[in-house]
Amino acid sequence: MAKVTYVDAGGLATTIDVAEGWSLMQAAVTNGVQGIVGECGGSCACATCHCYVDEARLAELPGPDDNELAMLDFAAADVRANSRLSCQIKASSRLLKKSDSGAKFVNKPDSKRVPPGIKIEPKCVFQQPARAIDGLVVHLPVTQGLRPESGMAESTISTSSIAFLGFGEAARAFLDGWRTNEGFKARISAYDIKTDSPDPEVWTAKRADYVAANVIGASTAPDAAAGAEAVFSVVTADQAHQAALAALPSLAEGALFFDCNSCAPQTKARTAMDVDAAGGRYIDVAVMAPVHPRLHRTPLLISGPHVEAAAQALAALDMSARIHEGPVGAASAVKMIRSIIMKGLEALVCECVLAGRKAGVIETVLDSLDDTYPGFGWKKRSAYMLERVMTHGVRRAAEMREAAVTVDLLGLKGEMSRASVGWQQTIGELGLRASEAQGADYRVLADAILAALDAKTV
Ligand code: FES
Repeated sequence: MAKVTYVDAGGLATTIDVAEGWSLMQAAVTNGVQGIVGECGGSCACATCHCYVDEARLAELPGPDDNELAMLDFAAADVRANSRLSCQIKASSRLLKKSDSGAKFVNKPDSKRVPPGIKIEPKCVFQQPARAIDGLVVHLPVTQGLRPESGMAESTISTSSIAFLGFGEAARAFLDGWRTNEGFKARISAYDIKTDSPDPEVWTAKRADYVAANVIGASTAPDAAAGAEAVFSVVTADQAHQAALAALPSLAEGALFFDCNSCAPQTKARTAMDVDAAGGRYIDVAVMAPVHPRLHRTPLLISGPHVEAAAQALAALDMSARIHEGPVGAASAVKMIRSIIMKGLEALVCECVLAGRKAGVIETVLDSLDDTYPGFGWKKRSAYMLERVMTHGVRRAAEMREAAVTVDLLGLKGEMSRASVGWQQTIGELGLRASEAQGADYRVLADAILAALDAKTV
């Protein structure tokens, strides 16, 4: 065990005994410390576990590796010399201090509010060697999501006209984020294939979305793209190439075309050839984390020949893009290969939880998994994953077909990716939605899915 004190931006200090092998992020999330999100579960892919390590103790910890340093670029709050990702700091015997250190360690009482401006002073002195992490104090930034004050200055947007191809969760998230800045005044147009649906309920709802979001709802993709300096394609993976082709007739010369879809590198390369041939500038964009809670600040990787111009435009929109060196497809290869785990794990969890619920053993199974993988929070994560598959399973299934193609084209067999399509598609097609309360309980979600599956087979 190692004592770690988390001090939030309001001065609330919480001390936790962190178990051997646990990261500071895991301990914080498990104990409900506000200010550490840990969106990616500790895989160094979200920067929502950003913290500031007590400067006096910083040198005692192993330094950040290249991945951590790169991901810190995506942190929403200021990055300082003592910034670290708390998922990368672990209580481990490898952190043992030298036996002759004689160091003093802070040992704060639990959950004590520290008045602003009051420095936390050490209370105890440990004579024996201890883990470097013991007694560590970390300060948490104001936010792990949106910056409280956007870095986007008044009318810095070089892209004064923006089009969305696809107007679902990602488009709304980007837009909502941009609009947190009063200086954002771009003209926004959008086209979503749902407005062509023969089902009046579907197209009426999508048109209502346009109105609610105060965007120009176009009737066709070319109408949306006409005159836009930047086009963001945020459709489903299986529609990405077609959506781009549809918009090309009206694409402005030099328009930046941000293909944010989760497609195989080869699909992106094909689309890039078409976009560039039509006079546009294609950018391969990989969206590296869920768009909530970070909205327009969600980490993006971009690749391709136009990344310099793209990076400038995205920076002007206060977005968190990092250039991934390489041709079109380089960024999406990262995303696709990561999805083998991210979306594949969701499918595995669905199968496990549904089977376990039916057999009446799921509680025991998840408790056992918590023992084997401490800190992962299997019940909470299961609820999150079930809800995500219910809401976005069809889209995720399309992504996993692309992941399978990615693996296939590397000369391997994308069998696990292909298998995960099954549960994603099946559950997504049920069209179930959960309230916030329902979404927090994996048992409620599992029962809803099982009931809907039963109803389907009757
Ligand atoms: S939890 Fe640390 S980077 Fe995501």
